[in-house]
Amino acid sequence: MDFSKEENVYILDHPLIQHKITRLRDKSTGTAEFRKVAGEIAMLMGYEALRDLETEMIEVETPIEKTMAPVISGRKQAVVPILRAGLGMTEGILSLLPTAKVGHIGMYRDEETHKPHSYYCKLPDPINERIIIVTDPMLATGGSAVDAINFIKEKGGKIIKFMCIIAAPEGLERLHTTHPDVQIYVGHLDRELNKNAYICPGLGDAGDRIFGTK
Ligand code: PRP
Ligand code: URA
Repeated sequence: MDFSKEENVYILDHPLIQHKITRLRDKSTGTAEFRKVAGEIAMLMGYEALRDLETEMIEVETPIEKTMAPVISGRKQAVVPILRAGLGMTEGILSLLPTAKVGHIGMYRDEETHKPHSYYCKLPDPINERIIIVTDPMLATGGSAVDAINFIKEKGGKIIKFMCIIAAPEGLERLHTTHPDVQIYVGHLDRELNKNAYICPGLGDAGDRIFGTK
């Protein structure tokens, strides 16, 4: 699949994002820096992913005169990290949308089958009226993202954006084919999955690197 021609797939090529992803890839980058940089990348990606937010004009008085100027309006938002690693992107998005509500979807991949298992789902009401931004740094086989978005749709979610820092072609194709209505934002499209379904070259296990486990 030629992702550059696909509607709703956005592979971001901004040099600041690429530079910061390199910091995440480096195995000598420690937990504190990893966490900080993952949040910064989420914020930069959010700037792109939120460029279609609606605005309305309000009157403000500058020190010089009264004028009409835009503010964000329209639908409320929800940020929904896929646990655990998606949490590392949440603050970055909230720094742009401080009034957004936060939902959580708990998923882990079985180490043998690589299939996702869900253990938690709590979404803010009314979910059907919100722009929902799902975060997870890694889109590998795509199983976790597909299942998370299935849950959100079952609960009534309609307008959904998915943001990941690194994607494998296999996972991106699966997510886009299963949920073509979801806008997918990718920091970098990597080469492939290995036999353990890890992204190559990737950055390793995102959850472990953000939380310092393992
Ligand atoms: C990682 C990652 C994604 C998932 C991606 O989570 O954060 O949720 O794997 O893989 P997939 O596209 O093949 O489903 P993991 O299952 O390791 O859980 P964790 O965040 O709790 O460590
Ligand atoms: N989950 C991760 O954290 N990293 C990968 O490369 C694949 C799945």
